[in-house]
Amino acid sequence: MSSLRDEIDMSKLPKSVAIIMDGNGRWAKKRFLPRKLGHKAGADTLENISRVADDLGIEHLTVYAFSTENWKRTEEEVGAIMDLLRNYLDRYIRTAEKENIKIDIIGEKNRLAPDIQDRIRRIEEISKDKPGMNLHIALNYGGRDDILRGVKKIAEKVKNGEINPDDITEDTISSSLDTHFYPDPEIVIRTSGEERISNFLLWQIAYSEFVFNSKFWPDYSAEDLYGDICYYQTRDRRFGGR
Ligand code: IPE
Ligand code: IPE
Ligand code: MG
Repeated sequence: MSSLRDEIDMSKLPKSVAIIMDGNGRWAKKRFLPRKLGHKAGADTLENISRVADDLGIEHLTVYAFSTENWKRTEEEVGAIMDLLRNYLDRYIRTAEKENIKIDIIGEKNRLAPDIQDRIRRIEEISKDKPGMNLHIALNYGGRDDILRGVKKIAEKVKNGEINPDDITEDTISSSLDTHFYPDPEIVIRTSGEERISNFLLWQIAYSEFVFNSKFWPDYSAEDLYGDICYYQTRDRRFGGR
């Protein structure tokens, strides 16, 4: 069977891809299932798609798993998402020896439960020397919150006399954000048909290409990723030039 993978121009493969994994709730609703089963199916899709992206040779995959606004949902739903996260992290820790992918978390971790913070520390420690793709999971992440925390770090340095306001550059800001250690995404994919950014990476997407896929996240497959990358490769990226 032919695959869209063969259509991808490997010489123009994006290094850094970001995905807004949306549509778990509607996926469940369509099947008359509780929302939490949609999130469970979504977690399985994340495992699959991160392996597919790693195999393809993507270096950085940033996924939006829980936003600073998602706390507004019912306690039951937030609890279910946090439990799935515990399971996800535990599974990785259990099978760590066989894992190829490096995992880290971006977002404001202090609001997460202490046992989740422990698991995050462990997973970042276990996976830091893995040879494969970097999977950056955005948890309690908000683009504005990222910038706000970055600005506070810079203000602190100014106050301590470490830097001069006149010496603040775009790089100073980039390197104060959670994503300071890897390149901005060339492509942002959002599933579920919604066409908005919902406070995901804001500073980092200045020149990203957007691809909106109508599939609900639990239905998103390897072929969808290949197709979205092919579509991205048809774009003419001008960066303000002629
Ligand atoms: C994305 O799916 C997962 C999270 C935001 C945690 P949703 O739960 O937003 O699914 P819809 O948008 O309601 O279908
Ligand atoms: C964005 O989806 C956040 C995640 C996918 C984690 P939402 O479902 O929360 O966004 P809105 O509410 O549709 O903008
Ligand atoms: Mg949604």
